Amino acid sequence: MRTPVFELHIRPMFRATDKAHMGFAFDLWDYDDVVANADDILARLQEDMPPPATGGLWPQEWVTLFQVWKDGARKRLDLGTAAFALQQDSTTTAITATGTFPAAGFEGWLQLESETETSKTYVLYFEAPDTPVGGLPQSFSLEESYPSTDTRSVFIHSSAGTQPLN
Ligand code: HEM
Repeated sequence: MRTPVFELHIRPMFRATDKAHMGFAFDLWDYDDVVANADDILARLQEDMPPPATGGLWPQEWVTLFQVWKDGARKRLDLGTAAFALQQDSTTTAITATGTFPAAGFEGWLQLESETETSKTYVLYFEAPDTPVGGLPQSFSLEESYPSTDTRSVFIHSSAGTQPLN
C-alpha cells in the first residue's frame, strides 16, 4: 500500500473550519503540532470530532487512514531546492524547476498551493523514498504549465521561502 504522506493525504482531511476552531489548542495544518497531538486527535476523531453541528464525524476510512499514518512512519514531504524559470508562448505558460535531488530515489513535482484573483503560488515538493536507495542522486527538470490567458503573477514556495517568479 502507498505510504500515507502528511501533505498529500492527512492535511487535506482537515478543513479550514477545523483548523480555525482548533487553533486554541493546536494547528491541524502543521505537521509538528499534529504529530505532537496525534494520539489525542485520533481518540477525538473516534469519539466526537468534528462535532455533528459542523459536519460530523469522518467516515471510518478517513479515521483508519489517519491511524495508519500515525502508527507508521508519519511521512511528510520536503520543500525542494531548484532553479526556477517561467517560459511563455502564445498558448502556454510553463514553470520549470531544475536541479539535483538530495539523494537517490527521490521524486519531485510542482503543484499549485494557493491562488488569489491576482496571484498563484506553486510549491516545489520532494518526496524521499520509503527506504534509502543506493546510487547517485538524479538530476531533474520539472514542469508545470497552464494557459497563457492566465496572466496572474506567480510565486514559488521552496526551501528558499516564498518568492516572486515574475
Ligand atoms: C485532541 C483533539 C481535540 C480536542 C481536545 C478537541 C477539543 C475541542 C473543543 C474543547 C472544542 C470547543 C467545544 C465544542 O465546540 O465542542 C472543539 C471544537 C471543534 N473541534 Fe475539536 N478537538 C480535537 C480535535 C479535533 C479535530 C481532529 C477536528 C477536525 C477533524 C476538530 C474539529 C472541531 C470543530 C469543527 C469544532 C467547532 C465546533 C463548533 O463550533 O460547533 N477537533 N474541539
